[in-house]
Amino acid sequence: MSDDQDNGQDTGRALPERGLPAERVLGDVEALRAGDRPTHGGRLFAYVYDPAVPGLDELAAAAHASSAHVNGLDPTAFPSLLAMENALVGAASRLLGGGPGTGAPDVVGSVTSGGTESLILAVKAARDARPDVAAPRIAVPVTAHAAFAKAAHYLRVALDPVPVDPVTLRPSAAAVAAAIGPDTVLVACSAPSYAHGVVDPVAEIAAVAAEAGVRCHVDACFGGWTLPWLRRLGEPVPPFDFAVAGVTSISVDLHKYAYAPKGVSVLLHRTPALRAPQFFAYADWPGYTMVNPVIASTRSGGPIAAAYATLRHLGEDGYLRLAAATRDAVAGLADAVRGTDGLRLLAEPESTVVCFTSTDPTLDLFVLVDELTARGWHTQPQLSYADLPASVHLTVTAAVAPRVAEFGPDLADAAAAARAAGPVKLPAELTALAATLTPDALTPELVAGLAAALGLGGAAVGPGPVAAGVGGAAAGSGDVAAGPGGGFAPDATVNALLDAAPPALRERLLVEFVGLLQRPTY
Ligand SMILES: Cc1ncc(COP(=O)(O)O)c(C=O)c1O
Repeated sequence: MSDDQDNGQDTGRALPERGLPAERVLGDVEALRAGDRPTHGGRLFAYVYDPAVPGLDELAAAAHASSAHVNGLDPTAFPSLLAMENALVGAASRLLGGGPGTGAPDVVGSVTSGGTESLILAVKAARDARPDVAAPRIAVPVTAHAAFAKAAHYLRVALDPVPVDPVTLRPSAAAVAAAIGPDTVLVACSAPSYAHGVVDPVAEIAAVAAEAGVRCHVDACFGGWTLPWLRRLGEPVPPFDFAVAGVTSISVDLHKYAYAPKGVSVLLHRTPALRAPQFFAYADWPGYTMVNPVIASTRSGGPIAAAYATLRHLGEDGYLRLAAATRDAVAGLADAVRGTDGLRLLAEPESTVVCFTSTDPTLDLFVLVDELTARGWHTQPQLSYADLPASVHLTVTAAVAPRVAEFGPDLADAAAAARAAGPVKLPAELTALAATLTPDALTPELVAGLAAALGLGGAAVGPGPVAAGVGGAAAGSGDVAAGPGGGFAPDATVNALLDAAPPALRERLLVEFVGLLQRPTY
């Protein structure tokens, strides 16, 4: 068979018959990247954390390359990684109320691949610390990150959702206390929650957990690297770290607001004893004894070295400066929302999130998201949940600061266009189907039919990002991201359909759609 590049029909096959020159291959990657959301430029409000510091990407890439082939599997073979990991854990600990001279001098921790892994391990440590509990449970506010549900699912731990106040978007300590039972091994709270950027009453929650003799994990994956700087800048940040006596573990993602490349989070425990059940060790086979503090066994040193270089380069002064720029950007964006008719902040910003909803039935948020995308602003729609309305989420990073003045006029313009277009009108039968269909009744044929009804033609269709709502389409362009797997830009119609469906059906639909996306290319 002739090679794909020889007959002028290069399909981007990963394994061509004959290898291609480095320059050509890099060009191919760059060409594929052209279809992505812009990672720089301050107009993307999810997925990517950009400080817009000149030279930082290059520095992190060089550090990453220097350690990419080093294996974290064995810290004695590669002491460089151990040294950098310990330094990262030390920096996170010191920032979050641990270390010498504090009330939590024995804080220890591990570098994980991300927030989800940190949360899974916090749950594992809590579960395995209580072998006496046959059917362990965790009490988690409904606003906490979905990764707790994933942890519960993977680890066969039952999840007890704690309701939040629909106005403050916070759980009360009383509600947490009510959710704690004899089999509860962990209580969780967020500092802040991803969806709304709201800091839970950590001190009160940790107190009821301590009273019940239960571990309390603070998920500061999102805000753990911003709240301390905001506090130093004089913002009223409530206590949320190891300064709070009942807090037993904290997670903080360096690939979020520490602005390190992806693949680095830190999970901290107040004491080595609390961390002990996090480890997995196995000697009952003829190979090397496996001792893993985290889920992965072989681990690239690349992300750890890149994070180490990033922290050392930016330093405390750099992070303070970036936090100040971010705080100002948040204030400017919130003002833009306040100044737009028909929109309301769902929560007063207290960290680095701006989250708003619509107060006008003629202003459909999902249509607004598409209109913003058409104007070059990539926001994140969030579906309605229980008694919380649909909303638009903006993760604000330092790169946004220089663009803030452009946002207000575009938001007003996009809102006017969304009103003129009117809310999404799904065919009545589709709305009825979404509201009544049970996930089990969702056959491949039905999925294909739904895809067709939504105009999602082609084999490779799907809504793309599913972490929290579905990103907006490039409205008006009709373009989809071209790549080996094809692509699909979700739009207001898809979000309207998902919004009409209960969570279990949303999950199932998205699994089906993503399953359609994830097909090998030959
Ligand atoms: C509060 C919080 N916890 C956990 C996570 C999960 O992090 P990751 O996507 O790195 O697994 C996120 C991600 O946004 C988050 O905001």
